[in-house]
Amino acid sequence: MSKIGKSQVIKQIREDIANCDFCRMLAGVGDIPVFPRGNLDAACMLVGEGPGEQEEKQQKPFVGAAGRLLEETLKNLGFDIEHDFYITNIVKYRSFNTLPSGRKANKPPTVKHINAERDFLEREIAIIKPKLIVALGAKASQWFLGKGFKLTQDHGKFYNWHGIEVLPTYHPAAILRARAAGNGGERVQDFKQDLQKIKEIINPPL
Ligand code: URA
Repeated sequence: MSKIGKSQVIKQIREDIANCDFCRMLAGVGDIPVFPRGNLDAACMLVGEGPGEQEEKQQKPFVGAAGRLLEETLKNLGFDIEHDFYITNIVKYRSFNTLPSGRKANKPPTVKHINAERDFLEREIAIIKPKLIVALGAKASQWFLGKGFKLTQDHGKFYNWHGIEVLPTYHPAAILRARAAGNGGERVQDFKQDLQKIKEIINPPL
């Protein structure tokens, strides 16, 4: 499909995301949609768990600290995040707990929330038709590979999902947390090595 055709379909998906009253009615789910970004013709899709505070503010995925780490790691491999990837999440609305102070703390989306938004990602994949999907973190990996998928054990390998290669790896926020706790060394190396494998399927631009 032409890029114009694709952008029309994506526009419709964006409208459907924005109009998802059911998503917003779920407990602990935000009411600001965070839309996908990047290149509609990209051969690789990056799929995260769900938006955080910064993403909600800018309504774009991976624009906070975790996004910067992801962007930097990909840049060191020769990729430009905006041009070489289509970037999205398994849920487009923020999932959070409200703390006694009134502040919102991110939490992993519930099964109910993930299922309520499942159709958006399925439609995105059907229209983008990527060769490779990089699943970032356990929730995104399990979306493709099933509830029993163990990220620590089986990250960094290619799996076939309906004819598309899926490469599960750590979530960049988990790398930031491991670094802050002073035990990030091995995880950081694993994360870089896993992302390096993108090059086995997709060449970075010269
Ligand atoms: N974490 C995610 O999983 N997605 C984002 O968009 C940002 C942080």
